[in-house]
Formats: sequence, structure tokens, C-alpha cells
Amino acid sequence: MAEIKKKEEWGSRIGLILAVAGNAVGLGNFLRFPAQAVQNGGGAFIIPYLVSFFLMGIPLLWIEWAIGRHGGKYGHHSTPGMLDVLGKNKILKYFGVFGIFTNLTVAAYYCYIESWTLSYVWHSITGTFSGKTTEQISLFFSHYLDLGNGSLINFPSEAVIFFIITICLNLWILSRGISKGIEIASKIGMPILILFGIFLAIRALTLKAGDHGAIYDSIVGLNFLWTPQFDSLTNPKVWLAAAGQIFFTLSVGMGSIHCYAAYLKEKEDIALNAATAGWMNEFVEVILGGSIIIPIAVAYLGLDWVKANVGFEMGFRTMPMLFQHWGPILAALAGMTWFGLLFFAGITSSIAMGQPVMAFLQDSFNLTRKKSVFTFGLLTILLSLPCVFFYEAGAFGEFDYWAGTFSLVLFALGESIIFVWVFGIDKAWEEINRGADIKIPLFFKYIIKYITPTFLLAVFIGSFIKPVDSNWTGAFINFFSGNGWQFASDSVIGNIFNIGIVDTRWFINGLMTNVFVIDMTRVLLLSTFILISAAVHFAWRKKKRDQLSQERNS
Ligand code: ALA
Repeated sequence: MAEIKKKEEWGSRIGLILAVAGNAVGLGNFLRFPAQAVQNGGGAFIIPYLVSFFLMGIPLLWIEWAIGRHGGKYGHHSTPGMLDVLGKNKILKYFGVFGIFTNLTVAAYYCYIESWTLSYVWHSITGTFSGKTTEQISLFFSHYLDLGNGSLINFPSEAVIFFIITICLNLWILSRGISKGIEIASKIGMPILILFGIFLAIRALTLKAGDHGAIYDSIVGLNFLWTPQFDSLTNPKVWLAAAGQIFFTLSVGMGSIHCYAAYLKEKEDIALNAATAGWMNEFVEVILGGSIIIPIAVAYLGLDWVKANVGFEMGFRTMPMLFQHWGPILAALAGMTWFGLLFFAGITSSIAMGQPVMAFLQDSFNLTRKKSVFTFGLLTILLSLPCVFFYEAGAFGEFDYWAGTFSLVLFALGESIIFVWVFGIDKAWEEINRGADIKIPLFFKYIIKYITPTFLLAVFIGSFIKPVDSNWTGAFINFFSGNGWQFASDSVIGNIFNIGIVDTRWFINGLMTNVFVIDMTRVLLLSTFILISAAVHFAWRKKKRDQLSQERNS
């Protein structure tokens, strides 16, 4: 296969590292990590989380960087082409469809949440939240439109305006290219978000009982997160949650790391770059992400309240209300830095979702950068419509589950098997180490070959058959006494068969139900996957035709 001259490249090493770290550091670090940690027992979560990082996260980072740089050598900047050059089987490129599907569909709902952060920056500065309760703040975006027959759809007019601004900002950065767009945005966004994070973490950790109405020292929340509980090591529920968080936070299993790595030179280091970006993400997640929202919320509302109410949305609903205790100036500053930090974290991740989709269009259909940016923007807006208008009816949850969770694990499992077993571990190891600025210990070769795929397989099977209440011991006892297996409603099987939903009708009294919204969202996601597969099919046919006519002409 002929090697192709790359059109674009990274301008500097620091720019590259900040861009990849910016891809990883996102809303997940500040909103999802604290929620997952609290829901899974605080200190009980940290050990499985760190083990997952070592055995799965770091190896996957090396695998994805290596697949990306190797694919880039052949002119591929998205995963269908990258997987295609790893082996002879024609099916490999179709597996790479996941790397476009996840980026496109996750971008659709991720940009919507990102736009909330921009709106909250505005409202923090203008003092809108002053004197508002958590309930009033949480109803902020709920503006319903009566369709006339009694059915209501959410029409968050203000959120839509900020969403369009956010999409335009993303597209503008992408239209400027790798070194002038993505790299500059990351060089600006990452230091600002770290500074904002340090400011808020210091503020949080120095909050004492009695200060501004706090009832506990913030250290109570921190102790909950950091007191290890070794019994969690035998709890599959915590392992699944920890592994899921590692996926989301590192952006592995998505195809965006591959894309960034494809713009590297053939002998440029990946071993140290990947590890540095991964560690930077962990610093931001565990140290900064763990030191803001939980300590502050626990100081004001107590550990029990936080345990009962924690979730992805707590950062939007509760924080603006708690900041009010600090007086108007500090509240505005805290709101601006908190939502500003989330915005920069979000945008450096969402541009990383756009680039692989654009690269696929450019590589496969010779679209110009302008046209590919426009196509990506249009597709993102179209796909985001269910999340915007049917957010609470379950569309958002479906996107997050199938695109943002399930597909990541499936793709990571597949790519690691392809890289290690189809491409071959010796070539894979050589690829990872070429041009390396650090010596990766040899035992990682065996971790990459055996442990990472086994770990991924266990996570995959675990999420498929997760039993009700995550009670694995009870489920096995039931199973072996002939009483079958009771799937949890949030297992893959439970999701597919709508387990736990008693009434599965699409319409009741002529009004559509949440089940209808959920099923239609699934149809949309599946159709998107099929359409991308068809695009890959046509792209390869076109390539073959072009090759033949070139051969005939020469
Ligand atoms: N890795 C990105 C995040 O954590 C997607 O939000």
C-alpha cells in the first residue's frame, strides 16, 4: 500500500499534548466523575478506578495512538481506513464505522450540554441566579410548547440560542484546521480551565463549618472520596462503573484519539505523549474534579443529601444556588469560573469529536474543509433535535447509553483484538515503541496482549448481563437453582427489551409516551450507524474505481 503525504500536521508538541488532554478533559471530569464516585461509595470507587486506568486506560491510549499514527501513514485520519490497513479482511473497515458513529452522535448531545454551560456563565455574570432555589434553577430550561392536542414538547428557546452559538464556535475552530484551530483553542482553553479549577478547589477546600453558612467542613466530603474501602474490590457493580468512567473520561473507544494521532509524523513519539495526556486528564479529574463540587455540596447540604441527590445535573442545579452564600461578587466570580471551566472542558472535547467526522468526509469524498465542517455541523444539529426537544422524555439517556457508553466498550474491545491479534502483538509493540521518548516496561506488552482484552471482555459481558440490583451472588444462586437470570433494567439486555417498563405502549389517548420517544431514538441511532456503513461502502468502491482509472491512464 502506498504511503501518502499528510496534508496537515501539529504545530508543536505542547500543542499536541494539550489538544489530546483537552479531548480527554471534559464535562466528564467535573460532573460525571464526582457523581460516579459518590454513587459507588466514594473511597470504594477509587481503587477499581485506578486499577482500570492502569490495566485498561493506559494500554488503550497506546493502542489508539499507535493505530492512529499507523493509519495516518497511509493517508487515513478516521477509523474505517485505519482498521482496514491493519489486516486483510474487508470487514475491518466496517468495524471502524464505530469511530465515526460515536463521535457524531456523542457530539450531538454533548454540544447541547456544553451550550448550557455557556448560558450559565452569562446568567452567573448577570446575577440571574440570585435568590433562586434549586427547584427554580432546575426548571430553568423547561419551557413547554403545547402542540394543540394536549401533548407538550419541551421548547427551551434560550437553550436553543446558546446551542446554536456553541455549534458555531465549534465549527469556526474546526474550520481553521489542526494547528491554527484545534491546537490554538487547546492552548488557550486548557490553561484557563486549570486555573479556574485551582481557584475553585482552593475555595472549596478552605470552606469551614460556619463560613458563609456552611454546616460542615468541606473536608468531610473529601474524606468520603479518599478513604479507601477494600471490600469494593469484589463488587462487580463498582468495577463496571469505574471502567465506564475511565472510558468516558479518557475518550477511548471513540475514534478521536486515533484521528489526532494520525496527524503525527511517522517517527514522532507516542509512548510519552499518550501517557502525559492521560496523566494530565487524571490530575484534572481526580484532583480538581474531586475537590470542587462534592466538598462544597457536602459542606452545605451534608453527605446524606449529596448521596441521595448526586447526579450529572447537580453541577447545574445545585452549584449556582450554593454560590449565592458567598455574596454577590464572589457568587458571580464562582459561577463564571465554574461554568467557564466546564465550557472550556466541553469545547476542547467536542472539537475532537468533529475532526474525525470531517476527516472521513475529506479523505473519502474529497470534500473541502469548508464543506466537511458544514456537513458535520448540519448532521450534529439534526441529530441533536431529539435531545433538545425530548430531553426529559428519555432521548438524551438513549444517546448517552448507546453512543456514549455501549459503543465505546464494544469498539475498544474490537480494536484491541484487531490490533493485538490480527495485526499481531510483535508489530503492535514495535509500532507503539517506534520513536518513543520513554522505555515502556516490557510487562505492558503482556498486559496489552492478554489483560486489556480480557478486562474489556469482562466489562462488556458484565454490562450485557448485569443482574437486578447488581446482586451478582444472588443472581448466580438463582440461576444455578434453575430460576433463570434476572437482568437489571440498565443492562444491555434489559435496555433492549425494556425490562422494568410495565406499559410499553407508544401512544396513550392519542398522546405519545416516553417509550415511543425512546424507541424512535433507537431507530434514529441505528439508522445513523447503517448510513455511515453505507458511506464507508461507497467510499471504498469509489477509491477502487479511481485506482483502476489511474492504472488505465498510466
Ligand atoms: N472525555 C470527555 C469528557 O470527559 C468526553 O467529557
